[in-house]
Amino acid sequence: MLEDKKIAVVGAGHMGRALIGGMVRAKLTAPKNITASRRSEEALSELRRLFGVHAVADNRKAVAGADIVILAVKPQMSGAVLSELSSRVSKKQLIVSVMAGITTETIARKLKKACPVVRAMPNTPCLVDAGATAICAGRYAGERDLALAEAIFKSVGLVVTLPESAMDAVTGLSGSGPVYLYMVIEAMIDGGVKMGIPRAVAAKLAAQTVFGAAKLVIETGKHPAILKDEVTTPGGTAINAIHTLEAKGLRSVLIDAVVTATQRSQELSRLYAD
Ligand SMILES: NC(=O)c1ccc[n+]([C@@H]2O[C@H](COP(=O)([O-])OP(=O)(O)OC[C@H]3O[C@@H](n4cnc5c(N)ncnc54)[C@H](OP(=O)(O)O)[C@@H]3O)[C@@H](O)[C@H]2O)c1
Repeated sequence: MLEDKKIAVVGAGHMGRALIGGMVRAKLTAPKNITASRRSEEALSELRRLFGVHAVADNRKAVAGADIVILAVKPQMSGAVLSELSSRVSKKQLIVSVMAGITTETIARKLKKACPVVRAMPNTPCLVDAGATAICAGRYAGERDLALAEAIFKSVGLVVTLPESAMDAVTGLSGSGPVYLYMVIEAMIDGGVKMGIPRAVAAKLAAQTVFGAAKLVIETGKHPAILKDEVTTPGGTAINAIHTLEAKGLRSVLIDAVVTATQRSQELSRLYAD
């Protein structure tokens, strides 16, 4: 679908680079069709060497002739970059933004044109092709634009489509979610160490357990509660641990984490709208 499309990645840092890697590995388009931009010359050379893409320091050169422009600078840089690009992008180009908290309306307004904009909220596991990304269409974007954006993010993991009103909640759930699970993994490691397992071994066991449990949920399609009940032997170890987790409020704590991160994302979105 992206074959022969020219793609500019403005701000090829962690996320931009993950998308370039995904698109190149999945052969969505030839590396020569991708142009990355960022300011560091050293990092630009590395992008050329690793992926065989064009890499330039000038954002305006990067977007010239592109069919799709991926915006991947930090939200704080969005105002400067959008005003720099406003005279260079046209309504014919699809804008795909991963910038957290920047709405499709804000992007179109700052670009000063009725551009099709697809906004995405990916997460860091995109770096290892296991990302979870939600995409939404702005006012001027259609089904074809969503399909193009979906193809890009599918190269680095799962993609869902939601209305833009859900993007702050997505930020609270899957955007910030890896952090919650790093803390879960870290705590499980400490539990193992406390009970006498060497730390390096505990780390391997804890991470693989979280990975394996997620894989089982995804591959069996079973509700997590069913999987939990299936391994809970009457009078056994798991039911004792479940009792402790319930008593200490594991579920409430995680629900609260998603709620509070969502609220913070809403606050930041309001700030960036100015
Ligand atoms: N990482 C995540 O998990 C994640 C998840 C969801 C959304 N996002 C979004 O993805 C975006 C990028 O995040 P990141 O983690 O990839 O940050 P990052 O690694 O800092 O990447 C941003 C890149 O932008 C470049 N840059 C800064 N100013 C620029 C300019 N004026 N023109 C061109 N390039 C410029 C920087 O490189 P130079 O300093 O060399 O210019 C930097 O490498 C953010 O908007 C973030 O909200 C990230």
